[in-house]
Amino acid sequence: MKICRTKADVRETVRAWKRQGESVGVVPTMGYLHEGHLGLVRLAREKADRVVATIFVNPTQFGPNEDLATYPRDEARDLALLEAEGVDAVFLPSVDEMYGVGGDTYVEVPGLSGILQGALRPGHFRGVSTVVTKLFNIVTPDFAVFGEKDYQQLTLIKQMVRDLDMPLEIVPHPTVREADGLAMSSRNVRLDTQQRAEAVLLSRSLAKAEELAASRPEISKLDAAIRSVLAEATTGEVKSVDIRDAETLEELTGPLDRPAVVLLAVRFGTVLLIDQRVVAPAD
Ligand code: PAJ
Repeated sequence: MKICRTKADVRETVRAWKRQGESVGVVPTMGYLHEGHLGLVRLAREKADRVVATIFVNPTQFGPNEDLATYPRDEARDLALLEAEGVDAVFLPSVDEMYGVGGDTYVEVPGLSGILQGALRPGHFRGVSTVVTKLFNIVTPDFAVFGEKDYQQLTLIKQMVRDLDMPLEIVPHPTVREADGLAMSSRNVRLDTQQRAEAVLLSRSLAKAEELAASRPEISKLDAAIRSVLAEATTGEVKSVDIRDAETLEELTGPLDRPAVVLLAVRFGTVLLIDQRVVAPAD
């Protein structure tokens, strides 16, 4: 597995593969890898001749009061995991290599970046769309894999690629879960025993939503049913329940008449857990 710390190195590596007619998939991450990330890597491995993983804790997507300084890192462990998955190259730039001096240009998807998580985290999605554009331009992959776990991020990147005619395919991967249904996240280890036990209520409330969706309920009824399951979490504070058009993330009202995504954010102590599921009325 080749380790590239500079843009020039990864560019040259990919260029050599492409000259031989090989296809290239990329999996962008911020490291501290878990089974969720590795699911994305395995999908890329199946689809491409060559797989590049990127590890970069991107400062421009963290707000001033967010956990940039304490974001967990373990480079040696990440590299061992990626090597075991048969990854061909890892791009691990420093902040200086990535942004250098200046850095005045950005990419923004204004509609999608200002709603939901974006309304709570000003500037976050602008940082994401800018760094993802840079990674695409540096690695020049045929496709990139993103998790449905970060549904708004996935939707925004798909729109950016469409709007700007970026020459690659965006491949979604379903949320990878623990045995009890909790979506895998590097934040899960920060939950205490009771919080961890109650965290299962996120996925359980989404299963309930899926079950109810078939009969075309009023959106308000669906919302109330989800909240009543989440209310069993005595150590959790429900930050948001959003039921949106699964394609555009537009608000929905009235009876459920099309596929919708349910987006949850619940805070346990200092740990914000998010989860999502697409639910649809029966035909
Ligand atoms: P990060 O949080 O490290 O996530 C990297 C990728 O792994 C994202 O596409 C995310 O959706 C996916 N992922 C994380 N947990 C998952 C799970 N349980 N199941 C499926 N996929 C999961 O998202 C980012 O980094 C950054 O914003 C990035 C896109 C790298 C830009 O900096």
